[in-house]
Amino acid sequence: MSISPFLRLKEIAPQEQPKSDEDFSVAWQSPANIAIIKYWGKKYGQLPASPSLSMTLDQAVTETHVNVFTKKRVKGIMAINGDPDHLFLPKMQRLYDWMAADLPVLNSISLSVSTRNTFPHSTGIASSASGISAFALCLLSIAGKIMSAEPSMDEFLHMASGCARIGSGSACRSMYGGFAVWGRSGCIEEAADEYATPVTGHIHPAMYSMRDAILVISADPKILSSTLGHESMQGHPFFSGRIGQSNKNLEEALQAMSANDFEKLSAVAECEALTLHALIMSANPGSLLMKPATVEVIHRVREARNKGIPLFFTLDAGANVHVMYPDASAAIVENFIRDVLQPLCEDNRVIFDRCGKGPVNITSIPGL
Ligand code: DP6
Repeated sequence: MSISPFLRLKEIAPQEQPKSDEDFSVAWQSPANIAIIKYWGKKYGQLPASPSLSMTLDQAVTETHVNVFTKKRVKGIMAINGDPDHLFLPKMQRLYDWMAADLPVLNSISLSVSTRNTFPHSTGIASSASGISAFALCLLSIAGKIMSAEPSMDEFLHMASGCARIGSGSACRSMYGGFAVWGRSGCIEEAADEYATPVTGHIHPAMYSMRDAILVISADPKILSSTLGHESMQGHPFFSGRIGQSNKNLEEALQAMSANDFEKLSAVAECEALTLHALIMSANPGSLLMKPATVEVIHRVREARNKGIPLFFTLDAGANVHVMYPDASAAIVENFIRDVLQPLCEDNRVIFDRCGKGPVNITSIPGL
């Protein structure tokens, strides 16, 4: 059984029963993140098979509002945006059930969830990291409010990260601004499988202004769900080698990020992206998620780097490409993106984003 970091809430709560039966609402804004070292493959208990490292984004966020009703007959999550079949409902339900098993107060309420992404529509980007992290933050706020528990912000985010992981692994890394690591590893002592940890001491200040241009190669829905993708690593012939490689790549990425060595970081990040796709292609059944334009972007990025433009690419489990570059070179890289890469994107769509600061509690902001 995995440890449930949110149980700390019980220790600090003066009571487990609601003080009043008033309806109320909570709201959080939470960002997506882009993995530099990839999480791909799980252990039992929604724990990662290997460590991952991500940069939290700034503009790509989800805003989630949850209305809590204390007297309705139907308990639990009633609907998401009025849709009982919402894409993220299974992940949200899993998270809710997991928390409710230990916090019975959650079984006595009904939730109506409304959620929206700030990513432009029709880009095919439906980030479970931002969506699930925003919901985990809301659920933990709800439990804390009912139990009158007031953890410090550090404690709260730590607990929320452990909860978010149950809904979607990558979501646990969205709790922190800058960079976060998830999964035990020899090179970061504090890193754990049950929750993500912010990576602070290891990073050169220049890294915190890193930019990320998301190139929308295809807005079509994903052809491989992350659930099936992770599952396909069981018995995969290359997977044991992958564990050693990800640990070594994490160590190298951290060295590069502390020394502000962009060239070294580029080599590690691209190795991770191509390894992810190589594992996916060679699984049984295998999938080919890159489109011709994905491959063309990769070649053009590498040609530009060979000519001295500092940038690298990374990929999630799909055809879209993230192009990352230092803030100091934003003008030259963005000219290159507009002239050379943007024409390869579906409807010329590029989302310009950057390293962000983490989630924001928007409960008390009127009009949102
Ligand atoms: C390729 O977090 O979506 O984006 O835990 O099953 O919800 P579940 O998987 P998910 O996997 C993300 C995989 C990835 C790499 C990464 O973000 O590290």
